[in-house]
Amino acid sequence: MTQTLLLKVNPQNPSRAKIQTAAKIIQNGGLVAFPTETVYGLGADALNADAVLALFAAKRRPLDNPPIVHVASPAEVVRLVEEVPKNAALLMEKFWPGPLTLVFKHSTVVPIVTTAGLDTVAIRMPKHKVALALIQASGCPIAAPSANLAGKPSPTTVHHVFEDLNGRVDAIIDGGATNIGIESTVVDVTVNPPMVLRPGGTTFEALKLVVGDLQLHALVEAEKELPLDNIRSPGMKHRHYAPKAEVLLIEGPASAVIIKIQELAESYRIKGNKVGVLATDETQAAYKADIVRSLGSRFNLSTIAQNLFRLLREVDAQNVDVILAEGVPLEGMGLAVMNRLRKASGYHIIKTQ
Ligand code: TXA
Ligand code: MG
Repeated sequence: MTQTLLLKVNPQNPSRAKIQTAAKIIQNGGLVAFPTETVYGLGADALNADAVLALFAAKRRPLDNPPIVHVASPAEVVRLVEEVPKNAALLMEKFWPGPLTLVFKHSTVVPIVTTAGLDTVAIRMPKHKVALALIQASGCPIAAPSANLAGKPSPTTVHHVFEDLNGRVDAIIDGGATNIGIESTVVDVTVNPPMVLRPGGTTFEALKLVVGDLQLHALVEAEKELPLDNIRSPGMKHRHYAPKAEVLLIEGPASAVIIKIQELAESYRIKGNKVGVLATDETQAAYKADIVRSLGSRFNLSTIAQNLFRLLREVDAQNVDVILAEGVPLEGMGLAVMNRLRKASGYHIIKTQ
C-alpha cells in the first residue's frame, strides 16, 4: 500500500509549488491522478515503460488497452507520431486544447507498453489548467487513462478518485469537479475518411463541420454487442461502467418511456427488489421507486453528461437491485451519453413506441 499524497489546488490558478511536487513524482516514474475538463486522469510519464506498467497495475487495467497520451501543445505531437495527416492538423487547429483525442501512427519514441503493441497511439491536449500545468512542469507527455479502477464509471470528482485509488497511487490532485463529465471523443485519423471510435465531449456534429466525410464506427451507436472482428479500439471490447446492480435502459418517446419505467418499477418492487431510477427533471415526479435521481433537464444534454457518472456511482452505492435509466436523443452530447448508458446496461435495452 502506497501513502497517497493529496494536493488541493485552485483549478483556475493552481499553486506552482504543488504542481512542482506532482511533476517531480511523474519525473521519478510515479503515478499522479489529476483533473482534466472531461474526467480525472491517472498520469505517468508516457515514455517511461516501467511507470506505464505501474499505471496499468494500479487501475487493474488489461495490458491490451492502451492509455491516451496527453500533451501540452500541438507541437509535442510531432516526435510521437510518424506523420500528422492533413485532417488531424485541421482538427487540432479547431478543437485543441479540448475533449478530442486523435489516433496517429506512432514513432519509435513511444514504448510498446504505452501503445499496448498497436502501431498507433492516441493523443490529446486537454484544456484544464491543472492538467496543462502538470504536463508542462513534468517536461514529458503524460499517459493518462481515466482515474478509476477498470470497470467502474470514470471519476468526475476527487471523491471518486479517492474511493478507487487511495493507497494505490503516489498523489491525487484535487481540482474540484470536472466540467464535461464524459471522456473525450476518440477519432482515428490514420484512415480516410477519419472515423469516430468513441463518442465523447466533442460532438459528432461539431467535428463534421471541419471534416465533412467523418465516419462513425458501428459500435458507437451499437444496440447490442458486435462481433470482435469489428473492434477498432481496444476499449470497445472491455466491459465498461458496470454497476453492481442490473441496469435496464428504456428508450423511446418520453411519454412512453415514463409509462414503461412506472410499470417496470412496480413489478420489480412487488417481487421485493430495491429499485433506482435515473430520471430527468421533467419526469422525476412521475416515478415511485426506492431511489429517484434526476440527471438534469431533457433539454440540456450537456448537463446530463456532466451528471451521468456521478449519479451511476451514487445510485449503485445505495445497493439497489436494479437501475431503470431513461434514454435520451442520440444527438449532440446525447450520443456519448447513450453510448455509456448502453454499455452500462450490458445492452439490456427496452424500446417503447
Ligand atoms: O477524456 C479522456 O479521454 C480521459 C481523460 C483522462 O483525458 N481519458 C480516458 O482514457 O478516457 P481511457 O484510457 O480511459 O480511454 C482511452 C480510450 C480507450 O477506449 C482506448 O481503448 C482508446 O482510447 N485508445 C487508446 N489508444 C488507442 C489506439 N491506439 N487506437 C484506438 N483506440 C485507442
Ligand atoms: Mg476509462
